[in-house]
Amino acid sequence: MSDTHIVVLAAGKGTRMKSAQPKVLHRAAGLSLLDHVLRAAASLQPATTVVVVGHMAEQVRRAAGERPGLRFALQEPQLGTGHALLQAEPYLAGASGTLVLLSGDVPLLRGETLRTLVRLHTQRGAAATVLTARVDRPHGYGRIVRSADGAIAAIVEDKDATAEQRAIGEINSGIYAFDLAPLFEALKTVGSANAQGEYYLPDLVRVYRERGLPVDTVLLEDAREIMGVNSRKELADVAAILRTTRADDLMASGVTIVDPTSTWIGPDVTVGPDTVIHPGVYLEGHTRIGASCEINSGVRIVDSVLDDGVVVNNFCVICESHVASGARVGPFAHLRPQSDIGEGAQVGNFVELKKTSLGKGSKANHLSYLGDATIGEKVNVGAGTITCNYDGTRKHPTVIEDGAFIGSDTQLIAPVRVGRGAYVAAGSSVTEDVPAGALAIARGTQVNKEGWVERKKKK
Ligand code: UD1
Ligand code: CA
Repeated sequence: MSDTHIVVLAAGKGTRMKSAQPKVLHRAAGLSLLDHVLRAAASLQPATTVVVVGHMAEQVRRAAGERPGLRFALQEPQLGTGHALLQAEPYLAGASGTLVLLSGDVPLLRGETLRTLVRLHTQRGAAATVLTARVDRPHGYGRIVRSADGAIAAIVEDKDATAEQRAIGEINSGIYAFDLAPLFEALKTVGSANAQGEYYLPDLVRVYRERGLPVDTVLLEDAREIMGVNSRKELADVAAILRTTRADDLMASGVTIVDPTSTWIGPDVTVGPDTVIHPGVYLEGHTRIGASCEINSGVRIVDSVLDDGVVVNNFCVICESHVASGARVGPFAHLRPQSDIGEGAQVGNFVELKKTSLGKGSKANHLSYLGDATIGEKVNVGAGTITCNYDGTRKHPTVIEDGAFIGSDTQLIAPVRVGRGAYVAAGSSVTEDVPAGALAIARGTQVNKEGWVERKKKK
């Protein structure tokens, strides 16, 4: 749909959030409200996307980042939604086709709904199509006023409505499809003589009807989709809906989620069938979890890949890492970026890895820090082993080859290499490479002074 253009209104202050942060940058289910809206918009494959920014414009711009076809229009000062859309005009000069107008604070809207809106708008040859919904409590929304023949006649804002109009249950979602041809010229005739002294975008409906231009509506089936976020309470409500929807989809695909109300799974996360996810788990970013895994309570996994049959015990944090099939991690383990746990390997409690690979079948089961290390297969890393990878200025690598045995409480002072099958005695501070098959002992020799305690007491 190359003749589809998107404008997202995101210049408002969001006063009711009571926040130092712009409203559209508040997050729900791991994404900002604006991200949610831009994702839905992207599913229309628009030729251009213009975000109208105003309040804390720079911050919103930076957070939205670089996306193909994305541009920003500045609205300063903010004189209402009609005025906001007008600021996008220079970015659409010479464009024709359909403009879809979205609000940056309506994150539940689905791409499918937008596609239906555009399809019906185009089929019917409408100049404007308003997405509407029926709600039990229309308070605060613009009401859809219809003429005797049932056609939409006007949208009346809550603050301007008569008692009779306030009783109308059909509301304006604030989402519209417009034919670009008459749009901006007509928009310039919209005035601000209303309760809020603002240029109301919905007033276009009245203008179009007066000019005999066809205006239509599309009624949403699930009114929740157009829930706007104006307060922290509504932010939590929207996040809860996103959480439930995601959990329902995953459960339908064969994932067990023990307590969906306490489990947060981001929109880009995938989970394989027969995986069991326990309460209080957060799966974020582009995480991919395989089949038949067990993710225990209190685990947070960000931008990581877990193959099939992985067990993550309670209270682990895993970021930008890979865990191969059959491996076991935790409890209380921390996999920092670029860690790679091999097939069937084991990482136990209070073990931290950073930029470290642990080969197939290797074990680091207790109280370790392993950083910038390449650890081969079937290696045993004893309790309390530390790679001293940082000299205060630079990081240095540690290599432990296949089958090596690192005794407990060893410090590996990098750069250092422990050869294949070598042993390091417990309590060693290893500063020199250990040849394959050797035993390294690097600790003070024990001296036992017989009768020392008795002699001390006599003094
Ligand atoms: C608006 C509609 C109302 C509809 C409701 C649906 C108007 C006048 N009213 O009301 O009919 O039922 O949405 O949620 O349009 N914005 C700007 N610049 C401005 C003012 C607003 O960019 O000068 C942006 C806001 O950041 C927000 C969006 O436009 O993203 C909607 O503005 P808001 O003030 O929330 O409008 P509502 O009162 O909710
Ligand atoms: Ca709003």
